[in-house]
Amino acid sequence: MSAGRRPIISGNWKMNFDHFEAIHAARALGLRLASADVAGVDVTVHPPFTDLRSVQTVVEAEEVPVVLGAQNCAVEDSGAFTGEVSPLMLARLHVGYVIVGHSERRRLFGETDDLVAAKAASVVRNGMVPVCCVGETETEREEGMTRDRLASQVDAVAVSLGPSAVGASVVAYEPVWAIGSGRAATPEDAQEACGWIREVIGMVAGDEAAATVRIQYGGSVTPENTSALLEGADVDGLLVGGASLDVAAFVAIVQAAAGVPA
Ligand code: PGA
Repeated sequence: MSAGRRPIISGNWKMNFDHFEAIHAARALGLRLASADVAGVDVTVHPPFTDLRSVQTVVEAEEVPVVLGAQNCAVEDSGAFTGEVSPLMLARLHVGYVIVGHSERRRLFGETDDLVAAKAASVVRNGMVPVCCVGETETEREEGMTRDRLASQVDAVAVSLGPSAVGASVVAYEPVWAIGSGRAATPEDAQEACGWIREVIGMVAGDEAAATVRIQYGGSVTPENTSALLEGADVDGLLVGGASLDVAAFVAIVQAAAGVPA
């Protein structure tokens, strides 16, 4: 972490928790997260679409110190797009952050770099912050393609957003092989990739955007590996999947982040 950038810890619930369970989890977060835990750290939670209104209500009524996030959105604000959810609808629910381009969406739902870049721009146009996911597959890493793959994913988003929006965005480095595998990247590998992402942003969007963009690491984050992963100067936060479903574990991750000197 670096003193200039506020750390951000995000919980990606993926397709888990119906709205009853989501209400329960949001309440539990409110009970366990103390104001000291979040004084220096941004915390976001990303429930499924059907939970958003319920979680919004709990977060606002009970002053749970998290910002509501979503996991995906459409490019368009409205129209004949059966089954889609628009960024405008999310903004109306006080969603602050929207994950775009998660590797599960790229791999299972065919999302391309261009589509992800268009979604990121729509999120910004609606006044929210995109959490733009990038990351190499195991084969790409073995073939020495990690830097190239990250560069093309980051380039697409940075060109689409332009310098000032890039600087205010979040990029999540999530090596595909580390997601849900229990095999997190080493702190050194996470730092190297996040440092490279910042370098690419500098080349495409300029030094100021590179200095302010926040870069998360994601993939098998646990309370145990949090502090070490955050030691990298270019690792500004964590995108947490499985461990975010366990409220105690997620709060432990936030607390560990709050305790890491920048
Ligand atoms: P994981 O997922 O923490 O379960 O590995 C991370 C993610 O996919 O965002």
